[in-house]
Amino acid sequence: MRGLVVLVTLACFATAQHQALIDYLERRLLAIEDRISLWHEQTTRYASELRELKQQMVSQLENLDKEKEALRMNIDSVGTRVDRVERELDYLETQNGAQPCVDVDDKLIEQQVTGVKEKQKSKYSQLSDCSDMISSIKAMKILKRVGGQKGTWTKDTNRASGKVYIFNGTEDDIIHAFASVQDFTRSSGMSLSSTLKLPSAWRGTGHVVYNNYVYYMSQADELKVVKHDLQNNSLTDSAVFPVQDHVPVYGLTPETVIDLAVDEEGLWAIYATQQNERYISLAKMDTSSLDIEQMWDTNCPRENAEAAFVICGTLYVVYNTKQPGRSRVQCVFDVNDMVTSEDAPLVYFPKRYGSHSSLKYNPHEKLLYAWDDGYQILYKLTMKKKLEI
Ligand SMILES: *[C@@H]1O[C@H](CO)[C@@H](O)[C@H](O)[C@H]1NC(C)=O
Ligand SMILES: *[C@@H]1O[C@H](CO)[C@@H](O)[C@H](O)[C@H]1NC(C)=O
Repeated sequence: MRGLVVLVTLACFATAQHQALIDYLERRLLAIEDRISLWHEQTTRYASELRELKQQMVSQLENLDKEKEALRMNIDSVGTRVDRVERELDYLETQNGAQPCVDVDDKLIEQQVTGVKEKQKSKYSQLSDCSDMISSIKAMKILKRVGGQKGTWTKDTNRASGKVYIFNGTEDDIIHAFASVQDFTRSSGMSLSSTLKLPSAWRGTGHVVYNNYVYYMSQADELKVVKHDLQNNSLTDSAVFPVQDHVPVYGLTPETVIDLAVDEEGLWAIYATQQNERYISLAKMDTSSLDIEQMWDTNCPRENAEAAFVICGTLYVVYNTKQPGRSRVQCVFDVNDMVTSEDAPLVYFPKRYGSHSSLKYNPHEKLLYAWDDGYQILYKLTMKKKLEI
């Protein structure tokens, strides 16, 4: 009996202990469940916060996009306005001082033209059958920047030569010669060039290289045209330019007193005199004797002219503004009287906001070799036929 009591007591004790363990475990479980539900709650909260953040970011990005778009539209409209102002300025210039060719004095021009025609019959006759005129500037290529702000560069018009000559600045007695345009392009500075020393200093930007001769203006006491043989580096000839009281031919390039040009027809001199100082004059020269074959007074003003060139017997004068803007061909004079400024398109050079100190035409390539603020640039021209009359 006593043994049984002990047994029951033991069993009770064990049960009580068991119960305590179970209680303990239950409490732990509850605590863990609590924590799990807390985590769960927190995770959901984080997830929803994250979602909110994402939504905010998306809407802010959308706003940014909208602002970007608005900014772009603003810039576009400012661009259009600048273009419009530029065109208006160009238009005003055409209306005011720089107006070169339209309605100058028709009678005067007619007289000049008939005068020219009469003279023409006796003297200058066209050598080539070219009848091209510029229609536009098709492309521009900036090749290099060597030398100072002003200068001249040109290729020998002799196809076989291909040599390129650099006249750096507006007064010197040396020129740099490159074997080809490619050599010029890959040369670091003047490193690949050979240097030629001429017997007298050249002045201005009026030089040309024609069939292995360089023709340049030299001004010791008189203004002379010098012809120098580049093959054996010897002076061939020089002649006093037979014009008294000359004035620098371009209003915007005062260093250049007389500009020389080469076209399909040969050698030309572009000049101005005190007697007719508002306008540019033109002369056809004989390349071997350096004689003047014929002279013309054009109706192209000197004011705001920066450079000029001749193509198929037509003089194209390029105008700019004192604050360099867009260069444009705004006056044309044809010695064969087939093109007038009215027929000729107003040819704009690509936007660069520079000024050309020289523009040299190469008749074989239909390219202009330009020097613009130290940059050597090639302009490719598109041509069309002159109007027949
Ligand atoms: C080119 O001429 C400018 C002055 O017009 C001078 O400063 C420069 O050194 C010259 N450059 C070369 C390569 O001769
Ligand atoms: C240079 O060459 C030309 C022919 O190309 C020749 O008439 C002239 O005499 C030569 N001058 C000298 C100094 O050798």
